Amino acid sequence: MRNLYSILLLILLCGSCAKNTSFSDIRETIIAKATNQYDYLYDTTSSQLDNKNRFPRTIESDKIRLVYNYDWTSGFYPGSLWYLHALTGDSKWKNRAMQYTKKLDTIQYWKGNHDVGFIIECSYGNAMKVAPSEDFNKIIVQTAKSLSSRFRPGAGIIQSWNSNEKWDCPVIIDNMMNLELLFHATKISGDPKYSDIATSHADNTIKNHYRDDFSSYHVLDYNKETGDIVARNTAQGYADESAWARGQAWGLYGFTVCYRETKDEKYLEQAIKIADFIKNHPQLPEDKVPYWDYDVPKEKETPRDASAASIAASALYELSTFVKDDKEAYLDFADEIMYSLSSSDYLAEIETNKGFLLKHSVGSIPHGVEIDVPLNYADYYFLEALYRSKTLK
Ligand code: GLY
Repeated sequence: MRNLYSILLLILLCGSCAKNTSFSDIRETIIAKATNQYDYLYDTTSSQLDNKNRFPRTIESDKIRLVYNYDWTSGFYPGSLWYLHALTGDSKWKNRAMQYTKKLDTIQYWKGNHDVGFIIECSYGNAMKVAPSEDFNKIIVQTAKSLSSRFRPGAGIIQSWNSNEKWDCPVIIDNMMNLELLFHATKISGDPKYSDIATSHADNTIKNHYRDDFSSYHVLDYNKETGDIVARNTAQGYADESAWARGQAWGLYGFTVCYRETKDEKYLEQAIKIADFIKNHPQLPEDKVPYWDYDVPKEKETPRDASAASIAASALYELSTFVKDDKEAYLDFADEIMYSLSSSDYLAEIETNKGFLLKHSVGSIPHGVEIDVPLNYADYYFLEALYRSKTLK
């Protein structure tokens, strides 16, 4: 009987997921599939001769593209290995995660970019949350110091990128994702300066980055002395006034973290409004995996962005534990996204897709790079969402 059940389940999973199962029915099968696929990715990556100190990011010219530790995505692969350890309990994943995490140790001193929060929290931060066998506290706090060097007190924000020919003090919505590391550093050190910087940045992001409909701009150029807004633009979206899909997901995730860490209701309200913007958007496709920008004119070939979907799903699972009314709405929305991402439309068959889990993400259409490809951060947030779905209280 058990065998018959397993066969039936597998048949259902061979094609697009059948609509009469729910995500929790298929979750364990998807975890097993992800585990097998990342075994393949690990073996393929490890056997690449140029692998030393490099991390799989995407596919380019039909090859795995490996990146160095200073790439903004370098923390996601070790982070995914930590989540596989958390999901399976298998020490093999812990050893692999540790191997890749430790390739990142010089990043703690890097002041050249805001992405150190992403890189170190996904790798060392998860090491401490998932399997705290070694003490990486100093690395978290040192990274927070480096990140804090980008805080501009006159404007109350963390500068994302360095000045360039277009912007003097650019802040991108993605920067909300670097705040988790600052909260973590305050918890470790007891020094409130890091969480104060995080809340100042979050407050100014609410004030300046959001439109009345709770969609977000991508890039704001600040006057770093006064905090005045010089320009509101995009770098990766369709237009300055459009809602770039991944940016909406970064904001949703970032404000959910801010609420978790501060319990300040304004962050919960902001996260709920962003979730509602996404959930109710008339251009959100039926399968809940957005096009790369909510405002891009749709044609048959307009790419989806699975990374925006997986980031949002992970955030929604956490958000559903905080909302007071209608928790189910946010939980069901997360499940619907995960159900679609787990179908053969998005989740790759084992030993295809060069070992990455999800197909159909977008890096940056305006830059003409990474269009309709796998991306290591789509996989990372998919695994995190699997973990959150499994352990949700
Ligand atoms: N943080 C860069 C991106 O989302 O593409």
